[in-house]
Amino acid sequence: MTEISEATDQTPLPVDGLFEPFTVKSLALKNRFAMAPMTRAYSPDGIPGQDVADYYARRVSGGTGLIITEGTYIPDPSAGPFNSVPRFYGEDSLAGWKRVVDSVHAAGGSIIPQLWHLGVERGDRPRLNPEVASTSPSGLTLDGVPLGREFSTTDLDDLRNAWVAAAVSAKETGFDGIELHGAHGYLLDQFLWEKTNLRTDGYGGSLRARTRFPAEIVAAIREAVGEDFAIVYRYSQWKSNHYDARLAQTPTELEAMLTPLVDAGVDVLHVSTRRHWEAAFPELAGSDSQLGLAGWTKRLTGVPTITVGSVGLNKVFTTAFTPDGAAESTGVDRLLQQYEDGEFDLVAVGRALLADPEWVNKLRTGDTDKQIAYANEHREVLY
Ligand SMILES: Cc1cc2nc3c(=O)[nH]c(=O)nc-3n(C[C@H](O)[C@H](O)[C@H](O)COP(=O)(O)O)c2cc1C
Repeated sequence: MTEISEATDQTPLPVDGLFEPFTVKSLALKNRFAMAPMTRAYSPDGIPGQDVADYYARRVSGGTGLIITEGTYIPDPSAGPFNSVPRFYGEDSLAGWKRVVDSVHAAGGSIIPQLWHLGVERGDRPRLNPEVASTSPSGLTLDGVPLGREFSTTDLDDLRNAWVAAAVSAKETGFDGIELHGAHGYLLDQFLWEKTNLRTDGYGGSLRARTRFPAEIVAAIREAVGEDFAIVYRYSQWKSNHYDARLAQTPTELEAMLTPLVDAGVDVLHVSTRRHWEAAFPELAGSDSQLGLAGWTKRLTGVPTITVGSVGLNKVFTTAFTPDGAAESTGVDRLLQQYEDGEFDLVAVGRALLADPEWVNKLRTGDTDKQIAYANEHREVLY
């Protein structure tokens, strides 16, 4: 039995539990490790090439059970601003994704695409489809500045159909499920957040109304892909440059927000935090004050959760884009304790897997104790 630990006086927990298989519907995973979705903009004209397939297959050969792909644009002209971020529509792009799926499967792993629409975060100077205005729930940036235009009710129908079309393409292309990007201040999160959703047509205002459109998308996808195709939904409290933002101020609000999504058909909630060990509601009393957001999510909804955020590293990912952004590797004791306590089912790993495709295998053999040289040079990976 392999044991990994920081220098502590306590008996280290075994990592073996994280190497047990896990299945939810169409998603049959060999272990509990997922590669976190990470945008990289290396798909010229939006078409992922063999290099992209090899990039993901390398992580599977290195032990990762589930690849969650970089964010990929759903078929809406205002989904995102960049030509080299992979599209999830059009024969050429989907043929590229088929190569990726086949390579990952051949290496013994599972793969789901992260379906993405940036909403207002696409900005006002997009390189892809520059003639099309950026769209969002209320035409407001995360800072409350007017930008682009607000969705009309007809737009919402088209938008719902675009998400469904992407989900159906994922199934037809052979993916093992899908992830909806509902986090970090992008489109679905713009519906959920009170500051970016001031709609008065039943899709904005109260928490319940703000949850309505994302839940309708999930329900429409579920109807189109059938009962067995796994739907993962990624959400976060934080937004880019608004790290202290909260969609839900209390566990009661969190339950009110997540329950409609689960009722609509979400199978797994991917709870994006920047530090997996942080308490979600530290102001609460007793042991509840310690529970992380993935733990709360699982407790309140009963569905499996994915935790994420600085696993194995000593700095958050948003500092990675600064001159002193290099993180160093740490132990995973706290993660193992959370797993033992039943707070999560899967763990997503981002930068550690960028830096070292073999990270998962090395965790098992105890060989991760070296500096992770993830630093500023990866900035161009994002844009
Ligand atoms: C280069 C880079 C690109 C990212 N792109 C995405 C993305 O496309 N979608 C997403 O949901 N999160 C994205 N993230 C966030 C990661 O999925 C993950 O939540 C974050 O890096 C924290 O995990 P880590 O501390 O293990 O790196 C990105 C992170 C990095 C470093």
